[in-house]
Amino acid sequence: MSKRLTDMRIVSRRHLRGGMWVLDLESADGSALPPILPGQFAQVKIEGTLLRRPISICDVLSPTTLRMLVRPVGDATRRLCEAPEGSVFNLLLPLGNGFELPAAGAKTLLVGGGVGCAPLSMLCRLLLEAGAEVTVAIGARTEADIDGLPELYNGAEVAVSTDDGSAGLHGLVTELPVFGRTYDMIYVCGPTPMMKAVARIARRSDTPCVVSLENMMACGLGACLCCVEKTVRGNVCVCTEGPVFDITELTWQ
Ligand code: FES
Repeated sequence: MSKRLTDMRIVSRRHLRGGMWVLDLESADGSALPPILPGQFAQVKIEGTLLRRPISICDVLSPTTLRMLVRPVGDATRRLCEAPEGSVFNLLLPLGNGFELPAAGAKTLLVGGGVGCAPLSMLCRLLLEAGAEVTVAIGARTEADIDGLPELYNGAEVAVSTDDGSAGLHGLVTELPVFGRTYDMIYVCGPTPMMKAVARIARRSDTPCVVSLENMMACGLGACLCCVEKTVRGNVCVCTEGPVFDITELTWQ
């Protein structure tokens, strides 16, 4: 799939109570975006930084517009989130492999936490459009961290857990009753302990499961090796071979 450098203008920005931002960006010259798969990401050039920042593509809203869910974790991502509408950023996209869709009618479970909820949004939409049954499980620390997230999964059944019990189930996301059902496919993106816990459940029930890894990235192009993950076929770059991996490829216990 061809990558492209494209200038994109922020057309809408919304601060979520948990600290993340929803940014909608439109192609600055009105040209159509290249084909983008759910789970792929962009490298965003932010003025004043040498390295681009990898940001998941949350959804493609129109042929020229995409959505990102961003947690400001440093000066660069804070400048991106706080840039006024109309600001233009250069994006290299699409990067990574992305999620594959299952056969029509499949029963699917999507499990997300934090910015890991982002790539599951476009996946959810495409699964629903393809006639799949979609259940979404979101885990968070507290009610504020859930703000804005269920809306990313319009049309799907959404279950929520929080560590402090301020919204949804009081406990871990894997304790949600939806984990008691059978699925044809489980998709996960979020903190590594959460992904490993879901992977263990999937293994026990022999359910196919893929995870989108959030390893630290710099170049996004397979050049710097800072995103390497150990797999059953050796060390691989998450930015080029992933970020989506079948759990049978990983060496997780
Ligand atoms: Fe540089 Fe993956 S981010 S090799």
